[in-house]
Amino acid sequence: MKLLLILLSSIFGTTLALPVKYFDSLDVLGNGLGVPCSTNSSAAWVDLVLIIDVSSNMGMARIQQIQQKFQQIFSKYSIGQDKLHNTRVALITYATSATTLADFSYFKNYNDLVNGLNSIMTINGDRNSNLNTGLDSAYTLIQGQIASNYQGKPIGVVLLAAGVNTAYLNDISQAATNIRQYGTIISVNYNSADITLGNILNGISTSPMVFYSSSNTLSYDLDWAFMQTNCYCPRSYGMQFSAYDPQSNRVTRFAECYIILNWSSFPPNMNSLTMCSPNYQVSITNQAKNDFVQNSIGLAQFGVDSVYISLHRNNAQTWVWYDYDGSEILLGNYTNWEPNVNPSTTDNCVVAEKSSSGTYPWKPVSCFPAQTGVTHTVCAKLACDANRKSCISGINDKSFKHDGNFTVIYK
Ligand SMILES: *[C@@H]1O[C@H](CO)[C@@H](O)[C@H](O)[C@H]1NC(C)=O
Ligand SMILES: *[C@@H]1O[C@H](CO)[C@@H](O)[C@H](O)[C@H]1NC(C)=O
Ligand SMILES: *[C@@H]1O[C@H](CO)[C@@H](O)[C@H](O)[C@H]1NC(C)=O
Ligand SMILES: *[C@@H]1O[C@H](CO)[C@@H](O)[C@H](O)[C@H]1NC(C)=O
Repeated sequence: MKLLLILLSSIFGTTLALPVKYFDSLDVLGNGLGVPCSTNSSAAWVDLVLIIDVSSNMGMARIQQIQQKFQQIFSKYSIGQDKLHNTRVALITYATSATTLADFSYFKNYNDLVNGLNSIMTINGDRNSNLNTGLDSAYTLIQGQIASNYQGKPIGVVLLAAGVNTAYLNDISQAATNIRQYGTIISVNYNSADITLGNILNGISTSPMVFYSSSNTLSYDLDWAFMQTNCYCPRSYGMQFSAYDPQSNRVTRFAECYIILNWSSFPPNMNSLTMCSPNYQVSITNQAKNDFVQNSIGLAQFGVDSVYISLHRNNAQTWVWYDYDGSEILLGNYTNWEPNVNPSTTDNCVVAEKSSSGTYPWKPVSCFPAQTGVTHTVCAKLACDANRKSCISGINDKSFKHDGNFTVIYK
């Protein structure tokens, strides 16, 4: 109904019945950069593999710390096997060789997991931290579940390491590259004096998810990393918006996905604002989003010179963006108009157009692509996270309506 209203109003110029929001609307801006990923751990539905170093480099005292720490962290999660509502945990230990103590289907509830964690012991006299064997076992587990019992959940590999056998650097790097195709690598360094280990963990982990056992924010950081892992864009949704967040002082994923569409033909009366239907075009409400759209989603890489964005004049002739629900957000202080834009132009829609310096400033144009010849647009869609489950296979999902008249440009 909402969509119909927008279609009708943009074609016939009727009054929009949707509310106008102010620039600091939480839906798009959240903490000021984007829609935050859910931090509701009890609703998380992520698959986590713990890979634990049980060599004498770790030692039993630190294993006990790990048991307590993870018992505490996972008490906030719903551990179990339900596809929609549970987090699953697998356990792998390694020293000279690796052992898979539990695959994803093993722990049926939190108590099972606590028992599993508490059964972990170090291997007396084994001084080898063969990280490669732990990573290889995790990759085997991931491949196995993708082949069979795949629930379509995001995967986090949590590496708890106290040393590294440098004879296997290539194997470590290869295994980590394999795993990162499917998931996020989060690491905790249990031996900060080991510089080599530090460098290797920095090299193989998903930035910025490298933590230290001595940190007094470790529980908070791991919880944050798990919730970030649960927040993702499947390929069909496009690239996930991430940016340096001054509040958390690190690069942070947001619950927003952007994708480029290329239309091949337009009916003469088709309005550009419907190009992403039933979703909406990207709203570039701050510098970080502008930089991301300009540099990270592939505009220049694919030779796209001009894209429609959601900025447009509404029926009150005011410049507004679309929010994810189709409501309007007033254009705020952040603008990126081309230098010589005529503010009194009668054109009501906007393209971001490549400049000679490679940036994409904005220019008002006609809302009819059949007139402008601009075939590309950047669409936006909310990511999946603990509270939004549309990516889980088998759930109905508001995908871009693909009627054969556009192609999707995947990065
Ligand atoms: C967090 O998730 C729980 C369990 O799914 C739910 O009952 C609760 O309403 C959620 N809280 C928020 C703030 O979303
Ligand atoms: C968009 O489609 C047109 C044909 O409809 C094609 O010529 C152009 O190369 C496409 N753009 C990209 C970036 O693939
Ligand atoms: C898509 O293309 C078909 C012809 O190939 C045309 O009949 C139809 O109106 C087009 N739809 C849109 C939304 O452009
Ligand atoms: C624009 O910036 C000014 C000064 O920083 C601020 O007072 C105002 O609230 C901002 N307006 C919007 C719509 O964000």
